[in-house]
Amino acid sequence: MQSRRKFIRGAAFSWSALSIPMLSFAKKAAVTKPIVVSTWDSGLAVNAEAWKVLGKSGKAIDAVEVAANSIENTINCCVGLGGNPDRDGKVTLDACIMDEKANCGSVAFLEKIKNPISVARKVMEKTPHVMLVGEGAQQFALENGFTKESGALSADAEKTYKEWLKKSEYKPVMNIEQQQIKAKKGHGPFAPNYFEDGSFNHDTMGTIALDNSGDLSGACTTSGMGFKMRGRVGDSPIIGAGLFVDNEIGAATSSGQGEEVIRVCGTHLVVEMMRAGKTPKEACKIAVERIIKINPEKARDFQVGFIAINKNGEYGAYSIQPGFSYSVTKADDGGKVYMAESHFAKK
Ligand code: GLY
Repeated sequence: MQSRRKFIRGAAFSWSALSIPMLSFAKKAAVTKPIVVSTWDSGLAVNAEAWKVLGKSGKAIDAVEVAANSIENTINCCVGLGGNPDRDGKVTLDACIMDEKANCGSVAFLEKIKNPISVARKVMEKTPHVMLVGEGAQQFALENGFTKESGALSADAEKTYKEWLKKSEYKPVMNIEQQQIKAKKGHGPFAPNYFEDGSFNHDTMGTIALDNSGDLSGACTTSGMGFKMRGRVGDSPIIGAGLFVDNEIGAATSSGQGEEVIRVCGTHLVVEMMRAGKTPKEACKIAVERIIKINPEKARDFQVGFIAINKNGEYGAYSIQPGFSYSVTKADDGGKVYMAESHFAKK
């Protein structure tokens, strides 16, 4: 007669033998690719540029670069040289880029160069470094074929700067898009930050993409917080703060008050939470709540928003304040704009 122990061992063996073919039939999560997600509703136009690459089975790294270039080249735009200046009246740019192999490049406090994201890509590809700043970054850009621009403020920035000079108060404006919509008629599904005259009022554009080969990349470009102290650098050029990509897991980028994102290594945290099994939205929410926990009272006065995608092309976002929109393009349908859920949601 079979002993009880033998029987149990035998039963366990038969069950695991049975489960092997069952596992191989287990339904794999459907992968949505290619897909591109950008911050804000102005991200819709940016995604359209990325789609020109992704839609032809191009690489995510090329897609996110052209996407960032498109907004940097938009004249009436707060991203790039058209953005608001620092307290001294000078526009300084920050950007970073990261590919599927964890190659990354970054520039900060860069002046008079039109496409900081492309300089960041050159840092990634042509130097042993990750980050170049200030004069050194400019010198590197000029040595690599970029042109030195005049440094003149855009008409919009000039006007805003003159207005700011009247009080010269350093006070970051939370959810400026919500305030500007009152003054200027917007369009689009949520309409806060993309105006009839083609101008945008956001200073940061983050774009993350999954290409047809299943590779992830991201780019983040900004003129930074308007009227910042000279030399101030935010989260956007900091890998792990404004942008992080892990090709096994997912990618995330941020917009909002950079200091608060740096404090928690925001996008690295989002990706690590996805690694731990959270959905992109849950991961973004955890990062937002980490920021709020540090200073719950102060958090009522600033905005931070995260967007994320995972390896399956699932996406999500979360912000501190209501008003953070994001754009998703995953087919030739022109894309869609969504409003992120937020911690201080309107009741
Ligand atoms: N998130 C952009 C900045 O703080 O500069």
